[in-house]
Amino acid sequence: MKILVTGGAGFIGSHTVIELLGAGYEPVILDNFSNSNRSVLAGLRQILGHDVPFYEADCNDPEALNAIFEKENFGGAIHFAAHKAVGESVAKPLMYYRNNLDSTLLLLETMQQHGVPNLVFSSSCTVYGQPEHLPVTEDTPRLPAQSPYGNTKAICEDIIRDAVYAKAPIKSIALRYFNPIGAHPSGLIGELPLGVPGNLVPFITQTAAGLREKLTVFGNDYNTPDGTCVRDFIHVVDLAKAHVQALRLLDSREETSYYDIFNVGTGHGNTVLEVIKTFEEVNQLKLNYSIGPRRPGDVEKIYAQVDKVNNVMGWRAEKTLAESLQDAWRWEQNLQKQKTSVSE
Ligand code: UD1
Repeated sequence: MKILVTGGAGFIGSHTVIELLGAGYEPVILDNFSNSNRSVLAGLRQILGHDVPFYEADCNDPEALNAIFEKENFGGAIHFAAHKAVGESVAKPLMYYRNNLDSTLLLLETMQQHGVPNLVFSSSCTVYGQPEHLPVTEDTPRLPAQSPYGNTKAICEDIIRDAVYAKAPIKSIALRYFNPIGAHPSGLIGELPLGVPGNLVPFITQTAAGLREKLTVFGNDYNTPDGTCVRDFIHVVDLAKAHVQALRLLDSREETSYYDIFNVGTGHGNTVLEVIKTFEEVNQLKLNYSIGPRRPGDVEKIYAQVDKVNNVMGWRAEKTLAESLQDAWRWEQNLQKQKTSVSE
């Protein structure tokens, strides 16, 4: 069954393409490289031994999207393509709303026009804000988003839910990701942040590689075991596998309209300092870091309750924090080697 993967050259999308192929699906990538790199396609080719069908197009372009749906006979879609930088979304809210909402609406409309029912949507634990009780379940109330980016995730969830409640012929699952980290164990694909990384693990690996002088830990006066923030860090390959399980679940549902939400995390939290120490231990190196002020907008602690995804989808995280950090470091080292060999 052919599956459209919007944003399939991105971090989570590219890892999902591999898992889809392993599970017998036929992924078709759509990407405009606005926040990804063509080199990802070469990495996929090296891992898989063949090319993956690919369209360079913007999923906000109705004609392009329609032409792709006319040509391919999709059984479903996974919608990763979106702007995702929290800080940038605060500076450019209209760009974020226009891009992330339009692409979701257009994809839903095009799927309906072509009779494609199954949609997996990339959502985020950001919709929970700082919850009162931990771990968060799917029933934990969403809080007003801290950023336009977070709000686009909440609004897109609502758009899909409302369409399903109105009996549109759509079956959809929103996956609320916790903090995806790591890279493919081959070291051939991984996270490719543009500019200075905002996220913790790419900043750690770039510091270890000497690209950044020092990592700043944003605050150590939180109410957590060592004072630094707690997150639920999930290996990107585990997260990718959750998309395969979501598609299988959608296939198995007999009703024509269906919507559900699943947390995708490990179920336990680690502090920022634990991540740093684990990174140092497993990779046998010392990281230059210091404690700085809190970052505005950060929540103190959040981690997932994963009973629902375990029981209903039969999915659970398998990889450890240590494996994630080894894989992230292997990827960063390969990336630097590639850059050196290109510049030589
Ligand atoms: C952020 C987004 C979230 C998004 C996710 C994508 C916010 C508020 N949330 O999550 O919506 O889905 O990225 O991956 O931005 N840290 C440092 N030093 C650094 C970088 C990070 O100490 O240089 C700390 C942060 O303060 C935080 C933790 O590391 O406590 C994780 O940060 P990050 O990787 O940016 O993810 P989130 O902020 O949790």
